[in-house]
Amino acid sequence: MGNAQCNSKKVLSVTELDAWKDLLKHHQSISNTSIPELFYNDPGRFETFHKSLEGLTLDYSKQRITTQTIEKLCTLARACDLENWRDQMFEGVHVNTTENRAVLHTALRNKDLKSLEVEDKDIVPEIKAAYKKMENFTTKIRAEGKFSRVVNIGIGGSDLGPHMVAEALKPFSDPNIKVHYVSNVDSSHLLETFKTINPAKTLFIITSKTFTTQETMCNAHTARKLMQKALGKDDVGEHFVAATQNIEEAEKFGITEEHIFPIWDWVGGRYSLWSAIGLSFCIAIGFDNFQKLLDGAYTMDKHFRNAPLEENIPVLLALIGIWNRNFEGSESLGIIPYDQYLYFLPSHMQQLDMESNGKSVTRYGTPITDYKTGPIVLGQTGTDAQHAFFQSVHQGTEIIPCDFIFSLKSQKPAAGHHYKLLANAIAQSKALMEGQSHDNPHKVFSGSRPSNTIVIEELDPYNLGLLMVMYEHKIFVQGIIWNINSFDQHGVELGKVIANQILHDLGDNDCKNAEPSKMDSSTAALIEMIKKTR
Ligand code: F6P
Repeated sequence: MGNAQCNSKKVLSVTELDAWKDLLKHHQSISNTSIPELFYNDPGRFETFHKSLEGLTLDYSKQRITTQTIEKLCTLARACDLENWRDQMFEGVHVNTTENRAVLHTALRNKDLKSLEVEDKDIVPEIKAAYKKMENFTTKIRAEGKFSRVVNIGIGGSDLGPHMVAEALKPFSDPNIKVHYVSNVDSSHLLETFKTINPAKTLFIITSKTFTTQETMCNAHTARKLMQKALGKDDVGEHFVAATQNIEEAEKFGITEEHIFPIWDWVGGRYSLWSAIGLSFCIAIGFDNFQKLLDGAYTMDKHFRNAPLEENIPVLLALIGIWNRNFEGSESLGIIPYDQYLYFLPSHMQQLDMESNGKSVTRYGTPITDYKTGPIVLGQTGTDAQHAFFQSVHQGTEIIPCDFIFSLKSQKPAAGHHYKLLANAIAQSKALMEGQSHDNPHKVFSGSRPSNTIVIEELDPYNLGLLMVMYEHKIFVQGIIWNINSFDQHGVELGKVIANQILHDLGDNDCKNAEPSKMDSSTAALIEMIKKTR
């Protein structure tokens, strides 16, 4: 499949589109209407502004929007050619234009896909073979009982997504297999983890699409040395497997082909939990549950691909985000799961959203000067968040739109807990929306602060698939409207290059070939401070 077609409209800034100008006028026309007034004028507002798909419901009634707002936002999405871009992504067109790549994590979830050509090669047999290999391996590990610990060594998308799923689906995990995640190059992370494991019963999975990421490779080499020492032998190969695209480097590391699980360049790092990069949690929950996760994801993919924009949950979520960011002027987005098992979700969402849409040039390389792109994503589980940064969410000068997420059913019920948890979630959105007047200015809550509520029936593998993919496609839609490439991440490169130059200056053996560079006085002084500790 070739490169994505550049619609002639795309050379215009999105702000020059009639649909955008119309939204500006509309925004002006409702500038004096608060969210409580919208509820007062339409007591049945929830009916109009919520959508459900199987076990997931999105309530967006506590947003400062009217039916006209949604219509106009959908007109904007159509003017940005959203449906065409969406179809091109699913069909394998190179929508990752800057890296000239297809974006096909959706193909991993599509069990009905018969064939799909990428660079003249049908990828469906490869996907099937990869899942079969994962299934066989997972089943064997769970049946044999040889390993009681699995340590995933990876970073970014090779850590955050799998780690989030492992935490979310702990109640579905084999109690005899504990999974750990080591990501940071700070040796404390690996050494503290190593202290808790029995080396003889531990399997390390090196997850790295490139197999060159500094942090991962450093941790992988140290882990092998620790294992060799602990087991008193050089050959510790049976304790190491890899998920990577770079088979050559994985083999050089000493992992045999039989223990290398594939990933392809059409799966981006932050979308890779659906591939063998998810092997760690797949071992924990078993392949049947992994398949249920894929099934939930596929249901949301089909909904995103087929539902009209006005009914389409990821599209609506994205358009509300555009409304808040570009018309209401909010800088950030709070992701607040009222579910302890989702405590890692905000971290995963930070990478998914900020690495995708934290861009300030269009996909064609022109600077973006007249509108804002991706928000600052922050988050924490409720109710903890209430006792941390919610003072600011309620009374700060910044408006922080929030997504409140909760499950109707508790996975670990104890008398008196779950209702308290859910009551708090709902109370927060109501307090933000209604506010409070008071004689004492310190006790005034301005109100009319927007939020979405996302309700899932139960946090099981299928519903987690629905939830994750809702956010993946939301971020895609926003990237299309902002006219950016959501699938590259050049912004992480410069720091890596400079870190190598600094390592060279510090005399690190791994960096003999790095180019020395001229250091400013601050950086040079900091390097000297570090050198003195030697
Ligand atoms: O942070 C940059 C990044 O390239 C992410 O996109 C990716 O998920 C992560 O590094 C890890 O990369 P790899 O899987 O190649 O080790």
